[in-house]
Amino acid sequence: MNNNQTVGVLGAGSMGSGIAQIAATQGHQTILVDLNEAALAKSEASIQKILARLVDKGKIDQAEADTIFGRLKFTSDITDFEGCGIVIEAIIENLEVKQKVFAELERITGDTCILASNTSSLSIASIASACNKAERVIGIHFFNPAPLMPLVEIIPAVQTSEETKDTARGLIDGWKKVTVLTKDTPGFIVNRVARPFYGEALKIYEEGVADFATIDWAMTELGGFRMGPFTLMDYIGNDINYTVTETVFAAFYYDPRYRPSFTQKRHSEAGWYGRKSGRGYYDYAEGVTMPEPNKDEKLGTTILNRVLVMLINEAVDALFLNIASKEDIDLAMTKGVNYPKGLLKWADEIGLDNVLSQLETLQSEYGEDRYRPSVLLRRMVRDNKTFY
Ligand SMILES: NC(=O)c1ccc[n+]([C@@H]2O[C@H](COP(=O)([O-])OP(=O)(O)OC[C@H]3O[C@@H](n4cnc5c(N)ncnc54)[C@H](O)[C@@H]3O)[C@@H](O)[C@H]2O)c1
Repeated sequence: MNNNQTVGVLGAGSMGSGIAQIAATQGHQTILVDLNEAALAKSEASIQKILARLVDKGKIDQAEADTIFGRLKFTSDITDFEGCGIVIEAIIENLEVKQKVFAELERITGDTCILASNTSSLSIASIASACNKAERVIGIHFFNPAPLMPLVEIIPAVQTSEETKDTARGLIDGWKKVTVLTKDTPGFIVNRVARPFYGEALKIYEEGVADFATIDWAMTELGGFRMGPFTLMDYIGNDINYTVTETVFAAFYYDPRYRPSFTQKRHSEAGWYGRKSGRGYYDYAEGVTMPEPNKDEKLGTTILNRVLVMLINEAVDALFLNIASKEDIDLAMTKGVNYPKGLLKWADEIGLDNVLSQLETLQSEYGEDRYRPSVLLRRMVRDNKTFY
């Protein structure tokens, strides 16, 4: 794959639009296809606006903006993908629809064209199974907003060839993204390891330990996270975040570690999605003052530690199960969701024995499998080892 090859992007929503912008900026002729003309028009206008802003800020000049925009073709005709070197799919998150589309992409494109999916939660193996040449199918998972977030997860399915994997990763590395290699398992790295950031925070709230504002304060002020869990869930949308949690929970055969929360379900059912609906855990109506946190340091530390050890446990378990390398697990969380530190590095710093003993206390108090420490954590403490 080189810059002379055309990149196809299917789906001109928030992700597809961002991915097409990246490909065109990196010098590729880029074809953006959507069935919905309104989505195409919106994407075209939004990319134009972003390029104009980059010109205003002096990041690129007008000629460059024109060149980038000139490389983009917006169309509703999927057969335009015929000569593409790669097609990245970013349509609705529905397996049957994606399978149908991949079978169609295989008929339209040449034999060597890589077919990639930006899915957040579906298995790449099941998408690839719709193709005769499943070895050319791979997951390439960008984060939102794609042009700004450096991380991209590369997910070969069991069917994916080494050549497809290497070519796809090489291409995205060439786009100056930080790629991490992950197994085709639910949530890949980020959406798996990050679950307790939401789930444990919600549980802490449900138990009446603290309110939303206090938990958010503890995680940002004491933990150094850029956004607190409730602010972040309101930003992502409670409908979307709840669905991801439910999908991951079911995909892990109902492991209690990933159990969704009624609080989030009710907020979603009420239409309290967050910023996009004007109300979530917080009220975003004009003139409403945000609730004040209880800045009790002892309480804040208890909250932070409980969420942090659960996050670390998840990261350790992902390493234990060979989902990704320790470097990639830490990179994924710092570059994909802006964590202040890699979780395995963080674990070394606060002491693995300390993490283990906090988890053991939670597990014995609650009597719940949710808090079971990873076997790898136990072994490392026993052998007096650190990750780095
Ligand atoms: N939004 C995120 O934060 C995020 C992050 C990473 C990955 N993803 C994944 O990216 C994909 C797209 O998400 P999004 O948020 O951009 O969705 P979106 O709803 O903003 O956009 C989807 C677009 O696909 C189009 N579409 C639907 N079916 C189509 C078809 N058969 N052919 C052509 N176009 C079709 C729709 O018209 C729409 O414009 C999903 O698989 C999602 O899981 C989303």
